[in-house]
Order: sequence, then C-alpha cells, then structure tokens
Amino acid sequence: MAKAVGIDLGTTYTAVSIVDDYGKPVILKNADGQVTTPSVVFFDPPNYTVGETALQSTITDPERVVQFIKRFMGQSGYRVQIDGKEYSPEFVSALILRKVVKDAEMELGDEIDQAVITVPAYFTEQQRHSTLEAGELAGLKVLRIISEPTAAALSYGIQRRANNKKILVYDLGGGTFDVTILQCLENDFNVLSVGGDHRLGGKDFDDRIVGFVEDRIKANHGVDISGDIELAAELRLKSEAAKRQLTGRQSVPVSLKVPDQANPGRSIPVKIEISREAFEEVASDLMARTEMLLESVLAKADLEWSDIDELLCVGGSSRMPMVGAMLNRLSNKKPLLHDPDECVAKGAALQAAIMVGEEGTRPEITVGHVLSHSLGVAVMSNGRPIIDHILPSLTRLPATERREGYTTTTDNQSVVQIRIYEGESDDPASYGKGPIGVFNLDTTPVRPKGQPKLAVEFRCDEDGRITALAKDSDTGKENFLTISLAGQRSEFEISDESQLMSEAMVS
Ligand SMILES: Nc1ncnc2c1ncn2[C@@H]1O[C@H](COP(=O)(O)OP(=O)(O)OP(=O)(O)O)[C@@H](O)[C@H]1O
Ligand SMILES: [Mg+2]
Repeated sequence: MAKAVGIDLGTTYTAVSIVDDYGKPVILKNADGQVTTPSVVFFDPPNYTVGETALQSTITDPERVVQFIKRFMGQSGYRVQIDGKEYSPEFVSALILRKVVKDAEMELGDEIDQAVITVPAYFTEQQRHSTLEAGELAGLKVLRIISEPTAAALSYGIQRRANNKKILVYDLGGGTFDVTILQCLENDFNVLSVGGDHRLGGKDFDDRIVGFVEDRIKANHGVDISGDIELAAELRLKSEAAKRQLTGRQSVPVSLKVPDQANPGRSIPVKIEISREAFEEVASDLMARTEMLLESVLAKADLEWSDIDELLCVGGSSRMPMVGAMLNRLSNKKPLLHDPDECVAKGAALQAAIMVGEEGTRPEITVGHVLSHSLGVAVMSNGRPIIDHILPSLTRLPATERREGYTTTTDNQSVVQIRIYEGESDDPASYGKGPIGVFNLDTTPVRPKGQPKLAVEFRCDEDGRITALAKDSDTGKENFLTISLAGQRSEFEISDESQLMSEAMVS
C-alpha cells in the first residue's frame, strides 16, 4: 500500500520522514545516505539534478542553478529565468519534492503518494497554497500544510511527553526565522503566539562571512572579487562551511585563488582567517533582529520569559553558539537543541499518521492549527477606509465568525463591494497586494444610506480555506466567495508546467 510521509521543504535543506510500524517517526535517507538533501536544482531540461551535485554546480554553472526558491513562494510574478525560459517557484519546489520522494521510495521500498508538507508559521495563506500546488505538481496528494514550529513541537512533545507546558520554539533555518509559543496539554497543542521573518536565516550569516572575506581581500591584496560570479559562488560555499566550523572552533581560514591584478590571467592564493568573535561581530545585527522578534512574540501573548517552561531550538542555524548564549541571557534558562535537522520532518510525519495512520500506529494527539494572519473587510470610518478585522490571527481552526452592523454609505446604493484583507494593519493602503478577495452583495431594492442591515461572516477550515459570506438581513439576499488562492500562475503556465513535469527526469 502506498505510504504517507512528512516533508520539511526547507530553504536550504529538505528532509522526509515516515512513522514506522511502532508509531515512531524516522527519517528516510536520500540516495547519498544523507538525512537531508540540499534544496538546490540544476536545470538541463528535461533533466534536472537536485541536491548535493546541484549545489556543487553553483561554482561551474551558476546561471543554471536555482537555490533559496522558498523565499519566493507565493510572490506574485516572480519567475526564475534559465536559457530564456521562465519557471515558477512552484515548479522549482516540485522538482525538489520529486527528488526527495523518489529517494525516500527507494529507501522505504514502497511507493509514496501522500504527504504533509511544512511551511514557516509566518507564511501567508497564499504562500501555503503555493506550497500545496508544488506538492500536487510533484504528483503528491497533499494531506495538509502545517507550520514548522508546530511540527517541531509535535515531534518533541511526543518523544518527551511534554505535559501542560509552555514551549517557545526558536527556529533559525537556512532562509527563515520563526518563533512560536505553544501550550502543550496532555493530548493537545495550542499555538499562543507566532512571529518571525521569512527573509532571515543561515544564508544571511553566510553572506556576512562573504562580506568579511571580500573586505579583507580588498584591504590586503587590493583585489575586488565581488563582480566575479564563479568566484562569488565558490566563496559562498566556503563561507557556509567556515560558518559551520566556527560552531565548534574559535577560528577558521577561508582559502581562495583570486585574480592577480598585476599579472592578468594569473591568480594568487589568499587565506583569510576569521575568528568566531569576528563572525559574531559582523552578524550581531542579525542576532539583534531575532531578539527583537522574540520579545514581540512574547509581548503579543502577554507573556514574560519566566512563563516559558521550555526553550526549544530547531533549524540548523540554531547550532551557532551565539544563539544559545543569547537565549540563555534573555531567559535565564538552558535552551534545548532538539534534533534540529530532523524534528520538523518527523513532526510532519506524525501529522500524516494522525490523518491516515493505521490503528495502533496512529498518535493519540490533536494539534491546534491556527490562522496565521488576521482576516478582515474594508469599511468606511469617518470618511476613511479602514480594515475591520473579523477573524484575528491565531484563531484556532476551524473557525466561524459573524459580524453585524454594516450598512451602505450612499443613498440608493444598489450594490456593496466586500473587500477581504489578510494581515494585521488597519490601513488598506498598506497592503501592497491589495485585497485577497472581492465580491459584491446586491442591496436592491435601494434604500437611503445607513438603512440596510448587512452582516459579514468568515469561515475558515482546518486547511486554511477561507469563505466569506455577506447577507442583507432585511431582504435575505446573500452572496459568498471562497477565496481562490490559485491565482499565482496563469492557466497556460499551469498546463505548460504540468507537461514539463511529466517529461522531467529528476535525479
Ligand atoms: N553546525 C552548524 N553551525 C552553524 N550553522 C549550521 C550548522 N549546521 C547547519 N547550519 C546551517 O543551518 C542552515 C540549514 O538549516 P535547516 O536545514 O534547518 O534550514 P532549512 O530547513 O533549509 O531552512 P528554513 O527552515 O529556513 O526554510 C544552513 O544555513 C546551514 O548553514
Ligand atoms: Mg527548516
């Protein structure tokens, strides 16, 4: 029988897990025997190479390699260009999923056709939807999209039986930073607060080392290497390796061969030493950003550090000693570095087992999925449009909320436009992308302004699918809109990319 897995589709690394016959989540290794696969794709259509080989190709063929695609998920209009052809972030992600699932099938000796895929807690419904489309394009039935910190806590809680505790999950991955506070009751998880920055992660720390080395090369050798694509790619790989080593060592060298200005065509070997102290210095503002976000997530939930029972660090970048030191200074507690590379995928596997697992291996636990961003409608207030939030963020799903008291703003108005916004600001002008949905309510027969009694209701199911309903209470007329989040790719692109995917050879 085909199996269901959990997939942590990371900015830099992707991992697959399955719940075994004993109810325990285990990682399915890739063809190289590794627990994680670099989320990097080398394009040579119809051949696509994903993983370590693709990562190494950034040095020789940078213009055919795509990485960090997760940062662009759900970003409208963003396309990767290779040899004059455009590819959507969904397509690139689907290639990564195809590869990791194929490898996992080999390891498992069975077919995989369903998956729970994780996303940062901070992802909008649109970004979640793009991830879902990527899964479907890869040929998977996507059981659910769940938040990474929730998955991490699920795996942690089941393994340690965390009971009635408030857990703060600090997830600093390769490309995103997420903070979540969860309340873990006996068989239930509740999200109390979330925050983060989906453009802050290990990559930014790598870039700081890159900048440090470039500056030193300029200062010591008078050579500017920033414009050299191949050298830049090599330096980026070496900087990431140096960063990892600095987790265990006090100082490491970065060696490169740079062009010799005095003898064109020749190169000179350079060796730049970077100490942990110097690294922490050039990355201090990044740490300060995570600190600020931590404080705001606590404040949002009205909590103090002393209310937090456990600090759980996940994501590969949490290994950097400066993370533990900062958390310890802030909280006076010892943060736990729990299975940082695997726990998100394992939590996703547990969620998959909760949904389709067989009797006996099915975990006896429920997970409170919450709305990631507030939902509201635009209304006029003192002659100015503002957003009236109807379903606040963190509302546990499924949820229904109805609000009465809306009306028309001009005499004899025959129609009212309902504009739906996703986000926290109450100023419609601050939403760059505008409303996520618009529909009309017929308010005939026409009446003087202020007379019709209108109501708006939001329904959101556990998968984040949003339906908005509007009703004229006097006439009984109503209309509704189920927000379609499929609008990122055109019909043409969808069919073109499905065709490309069916011809794709992914290795
Ligand atoms: N020993 C280490 N010291 C410092 N950083 C490390 C270490 N090991 C891994 N990393 C960093 O962790 C990051 C990868 O972490 P992880 O696999 O959790 O991220 P991801 O899941 O790909 O990204 P995201 O969750 O942001 O989408 C990389 O930036 C990597 O350089
Ligand atoms: Mg991750």
